[in-house]
Amino acid sequence: MLSGPGFPERRLRRFRRTSALRRLVSETTLTPADLIAPLFVREGIAAPQPIGSLPGVFQFDLDSLEAEVAELVSLGVPAAILFGVPVNKDAVGSGASDPDGIVQVALRRLRDRFGDDIALVADLCLDEYTDHGHCGLLRPDGTVDNDSTLVRYAEAAVAQAAAGVDIVAPSGMMDGQVAAIRSALDGSGFADVAILAYAAKYASALYGPFRDAVDVTIAGGGDRKAYQQDVANVRESLEEIRTDLAEGADMVMVKPAVTYLDVLTRARALTDAPLAAYHVSGEYSMIKAAAANGWIDGDAVALEQLIAIKRAGADAVLTYFAKECAQWLA
Ligand code: PBG
Repeated sequence: MLSGPGFPERRLRRFRRTSALRRLVSETTLTPADLIAPLFVREGIAAPQPIGSLPGVFQFDLDSLEAEVAELVSLGVPAAILFGVPVNKDAVGSGASDPDGIVQVALRRLRDRFGDDIALVADLCLDEYTDHGHCGLLRPDGTVDNDSTLVRYAEAAVAQAAAGVDIVAPSGMMDGQVAAIRSALDGSGFADVAILAYAAKYASALYGPFRDAVDVTIAGGGDRKAYQQDVANVRESLEEIRTDLAEGADMVMVKPAVTYLDVLTRARALTDAPLAAYHVSGEYSMIKAAAANGWIDGDAVALEQLIAIKRAGADAVLTYFAKECAQWLA
């Protein structure tokens, strides 16, 4: 055996030589069971509509939604999160809590068809349903009013629970939203419905394609910086997570994912509660666009990012790659 000056003392390459050896020492696994598929369901359409800025992602009608969920179930994906695209939007986002609103109708349909074969999650927010595109109710001066918005979130949570949701996922970043929703659910006989809190959610420029998917334009060219977090902060995320857990969150989320891996790692160190990360629309579309240009191997980059998100500490990943990824891993 050669050793001494000029020859390495430790040989770390030995476990990289074959695929079996690499698998043996792999520190992180990615399986279909880690994935939550975001699904858009649109009222008033009869066939799936492609979303230009999210290649391969569709706004579904109820029939095609059911078919998509059947595929996810057969691929072993344990959860889907629904986003509604209503025909009518108004100032208070009525569709979010209407028992006949599109997400409530979809939840009842999926629950009837799939029973407990898939966990049904519903995004809980007003922006898809308001004509001004904000996540809450507006004061006369156009700013978002925290406390009156909580009343609407509570109503939406109860409507989603009555329609059969397993997990509600408040994404509006109002203070006190988890406590308001927990108390409304408990008070209406839905103590078993869980809360996945979008706890550390940043005012990110990576949500652009999503807003196309749900036909949301924020009034007056505005933004969400008065309620979503400043990109520059990480300790603030830990405060958000602590607060949401104290208010009764069952699972907490960091969003976006790849640009915020440091936040995820800090979150993992902070809590042993289930932790999710949202690989958001812009993260997906950048990969698809570069791959379409032949600049990167899109599937390989997607897998690399999803594994990185798990390595950083996530238990579950919300991703538009969910179906494809489950197929790659099959
Ligand atoms: C709000 C919500 C948004 C996303 C998920 N829930 C949009 C926003 O905060 O503006 C973005 C998800 C993505 O970009 O994939 N209901």
